[in-house]
Amino acid sequence: MRGRVIVVGSVNIDLVVSAPRLPQPGETVTGGRFAQHDGGKGGNQAVAAARLGAATILVAAIGRDDYGRQARTALEEDRVATDEFIVDEAEPTGVALIVVDRTGENLIAVASGANAALSPAHLRAAFGRLRPTGDDIVLVGHEIPTATAREALRLGWEAGGRTILNPAPAEGIDRSVFGLAGVITPNRHELAVLVAADGRGLGRRGAAPADPMAAARTLLERNAEGDGAGAVLVTLSSAGALLVRRDAEPLEIPAPAVEAVDSVGAGDALNGALAAGLADGLAIEDAARRAVAAASVTVTRPGARGGLPTGDDLERFISR
Ligand code: RIB
Repeated sequence: MRGRVIVVGSVNIDLVVSAPRLPQPGETVTGGRFAQHDGGKGGNQAVAAARLGAATILVAAIGRDDYGRQARTALEEDRVATDEFIVDEAEPTGVALIVVDRTGENLIAVASGANAALSPAHLRAAFGRLRPTGDDIVLVGHEIPTATAREALRLGWEAGGRTILNPAPAEGIDRSVFGLAGVITPNRHELAVLVAADGRGLGRRGAAPADPMAAARTLLERNAEGDGAGAVLVTLSSAGALLVRRDAEPLEIPAPAVEAVDSVGAGDALNGALAAGLADGLAIEDAARRAVAAASVTVTRPGARGGLPTGDDLERFISR
């Protein structure tokens, strides 16, 4: 790998019930099975990149508790560097309550805990030590405070690093944040929120745009003068992804058909693999194709990280 992957994001412990179906508001669904997994979008993305061979550093916050120790150990076992973690004295490690149904679809509610304590000042200190270069990829998620995500992108950009924003969840993000990202990786719902936040009136909270290509183009149009994102990679679940660039034709990337058992972490697999591919010097279309394949492998195993492929796993899957 030519460059490193520096992930700025969240760490959670996932408490998961696999249920016959997802409950409606106010409804109780019985007959589920419980499992505890390591999670958090930042942690999952870092492991996804590390398993594919990237030298990966995660900048994140955990609490001084058993969940925090467990989360850190799991990341280190996957060769993710955790030297830039803060251990918050006041807040517990983040927890995600997750329900997964028989088709692999999920519902997630997160108690952010220590993730909310990751501050712009901490980012400045961490980046001062890490000194990103133009070979590195800075991958930023949004399960942390918006100001911290903005600062991570700004510092990555300023240092000549290449930046990816995974706007998940998208609430609270505006152009002052996503305008600093070289690549933005929303799903359809997140894309709608970003377009709405950009004042174009094309999207509204909760409603996915009927035409993701048009919506992605509206985000890129404002960057005509050269600042901000050059590409939007819209993730489309089992349909794959759509790569929309400022200076090239759009590219549809279909996902290979697989039997999905758990879609939790599919987006994280895609983001981590995209970052690893770019850090390795791949062109964005090649990195995006590998990222879609990595997400497809991931959904075939339970847990956000259970199915994240190694480089060999991914080669085998692609050559099939
Ligand atoms: O993207 C999946 C992740 O979202 C889970 O691991 C959970 O922790 C939430 O952050």
